[in-house]
Amino acid sequence: MIKSLIVYYSLGGNTEVVANKIEEKLTSLGKEFDVLSLGKKSKFESVDIENYDIVFIGSPTYKEGKTPLYVLDYLRYILNTIILNYLNSLYLEQGIRNGHTLQEQLMKYLITLVKKQR
Ligand SMILES: Cc1cc2nc3c(=O)[nH]c(=O)nc-3n(C[C@H](O)[C@H](O)[C@H](O)COP(=O)(O)O)c2cc1C
Repeated sequence: MIKSLIVYYSLGGNTEVVANKIEEKLTSLGKEFDVLSLGKKSKFESVDIENYDIVFIGSPTYKEGKTPLYVLDYLRYILNTIILNYLNSLYLEQGIRNGHTLQEQLMKYLITLVKKQR
């Protein structure tokens, strides 16, 4: 059966309300899901994203359009997992010196994008 993961960070409760709505909908459809609330005590490394077919990620926006660090850290974490596990056939044709794998290059690029959010 298709299994979903609902991930969210909520400071004031609005994003949690939306996450709860998604939970209600999935429950009414008889779907399996887990919920991961991001924050100081979150142990997101213990939740294996590969166990899920669908991942919902919810985040508020603060400080003139910024995404909270808890969410950015999670995005970075799952991007790393996705790149390592799903894009492992990327290859880079290059000389021997100063080589980086294409995965490393892609990760660097994605981290730059995530950092721009800060
Ligand atoms: C102090 C503060 C700053 C905010 N800054 C932004 C912002 O820069 N851009 C934006 O679109 N929304 C901003 N918002 C709106 C929040 O993103 C919105 O209220 C969101 O639903 C809060 O989610 P939460 O209750 O789950 O924390 C801000 C809200 C607060 C209270």
